[in-house]
Amino acid sequence: MGLFITPNLLDMLKLMNADENKSKRLVSLMKKRGFIQPAFELYGGVAGLYDYGPLGGRLRRNVISKWINHWISLGNIVEIDSPTITPEPVLKASGHIGAFNDYASECKFCSSIYRSDHLLEEVHNNPDSLDNLSLDEELSKHKIPCPSCKKSGWLPSEPLNLMFSTTIGASKGGRRAYMRPETAQGMFLQYPSIYRHFRGKLPFGAVQVGKGYRNEISPRQGMIRLREFNMAELEYFIDPQKDIDYNLNSWDHIELKLVPDPINGEIKELKCTIYDAVENKIIRDKTVGWFMIKTFELMIELGINSDLIRFRQHETDEMAHYATDCWDLEIFGSYGWIECVGIANRGCYDLEAHQKVSKTNDLKAWRDYENELEIDKIICSPVQSIIGPHFKGKSKLISNHLETLDALEIKFPYSTTIDGEEITIEENMVEIKEVKSIERGEWFTPHVVEPAFGIDRIIWHILEHSYTEISKENDDYYTILALKNKICPIDFSVYPLFEKDGLDEMAKKIIFSIRDIKGINVNYDGTKSIGRRYARGDEIGVPYAITVDHQTLEDNTVTLRERDSQEQKRMHIEDLLKFISQY
Ligand code: ATP
Ligand code: GLY
Repeated sequence: MGLFITPNLLDMLKLMNADENKSKRLVSLMKKRGFIQPAFELYGGVAGLYDYGPLGGRLRRNVISKWINHWISLGNIVEIDSPTITPEPVLKASGHIGAFNDYASECKFCSSIYRSDHLLEEVHNNPDSLDNLSLDEELSKHKIPCPSCKKSGWLPSEPLNLMFSTTIGASKGGRRAYMRPETAQGMFLQYPSIYRHFRGKLPFGAVQVGKGYRNEISPRQGMIRLREFNMAELEYFIDPQKDIDYNLNSWDHIELKLVPDPINGEIKELKCTIYDAVENKIIRDKTVGWFMIKTFELMIELGINSDLIRFRQHETDEMAHYATDCWDLEIFGSYGWIECVGIANRGCYDLEAHQKVSKTNDLKAWRDYENELEIDKIICSPVQSIIGPHFKGKSKLISNHLETLDALEIKFPYSTTIDGEEITIEENMVEIKEVKSIERGEWFTPHVVEPAFGIDRIIWHILEHSYTEISKENDDYYTILALKNKICPIDFSVYPLFEKDGLDEMAKKIIFSIRDIKGINVNYDGTKSIGRRYARGDEIGVPYAITVDHQTLEDNTVTLRERDSQEQKRMHIEDLLKFISQY
């Protein structure tokens, strides 16, 4: 859970150069310029549902592309995609039907319902870790008022499941289903195909980016708490017995801010390298540590301020039902410290749960022993003189199957389906024998480490950290959105000084040449004064402006203006195109 304000809040706000209305001005800019805005506004809007507009849509795509490339370039990670509608048995097996709940408290006076832990954010450091009794106790001890009617008095908190339910097929007799609350289950269910793709060689991973749905109890923090949101998750399958060297000391130049699980309620923030944190067992699992530093790197590349990032370890009571260790990457912004990525060791929880419920054995990996083992084994040996004539063409398949059975557990008559046919084995068809066998390895259920990213929360913080107000005239701010190259929705803008004398045609010619350069998004703006156009480009984060003037017609040179330094350089169009192709 998110909001978690430290005593040095004021210093942090100073780091963001924020006053209390700055984020309001950012929200209104985002709406005005088509980045993000509440959805369905024509019909009054719906809490927790947002639109990405013409600029936001492109920004979101750029962030997702960067995210995917960051992981795929590791070489042993693939991208998959799976449906968002999920049949009930899948989410029963994963534990979401039983355990994916938040506690809700109902006001005794006006019947408004709020998330119980959110009501306690001002008075408790980590209310997400409290059980229902402690939540009720804290609500009454601090006399927490109802945000709607301001009176204080709450009914006992109740768990509410966060999933949206639906029906597949006609509602009578249709199958019960849910909109997925996480993308992770898609990767678990596709495990056999990912295993085959990598020819059984662990470690490997799969990523999926797509919508997740949670019927949040009372969303009220803009992009932070949505009911339909963009998730990006990576499931990394490992052999827990194999030590992997991640070269963690190659990140010794980076000090991370860590907040380990508080002991006796005492919160301590420490700074250390990822190598030291793993070596000193502050982070229990090396793979989790490796994903933490890789995630930190990605955040910096996306444009998050490194001073405003920290990792907080989950308290044991706060951990999701599947996790054995979990670190949240939190980013500081106008809502305080907000969880934007959860990096969890899910152990073999999910793969085992799906094998158990689906009664299959397919979510396993093979591990070779270092040395072959000779062992005594009790097996069901087929009596060929009976099996052969009885099952004819199928006898080989049936014999192979018998050899996989546990001879001490089997009960006769034994029935199973082989090659689509139900067959029954009688006791006289097998001989229980003790044999010597050479074992070369074993099947086991891999463990999973999962970084789970909330793309919308990350985008919100990219915007907040990039948004700079550099001067103010009356009530007008000159603002720059210092987005990183390749993240910004528009890479170059071309401005003819006037829309006449052939300058506009020249500008359009330059745009066509730039469009030939792959992956560059360039736009044209010819209205109002050149100063106004620079300002319009700066406020939406266009890194470079190209101005075409009368001299351009004479000598093919233009002015290139850099957003952040506001420096201008005159250059030949050919040099400009060279510069852009290296952008
Ligand atoms: P919180 O405690 O804030 O509800 P969570 O612990 O339930 O979050 P996870 O289940 O770990 O979150 O989800 C993975 C990521 O998805 C989070 O780190 C967050 O960035 C994002 N996320 C979760 N819930 C929402 C939401 N309602 N709106 C937007 N993003 C969300
Ligand atoms: N897959 C992590 C989560 O949604 O909780």
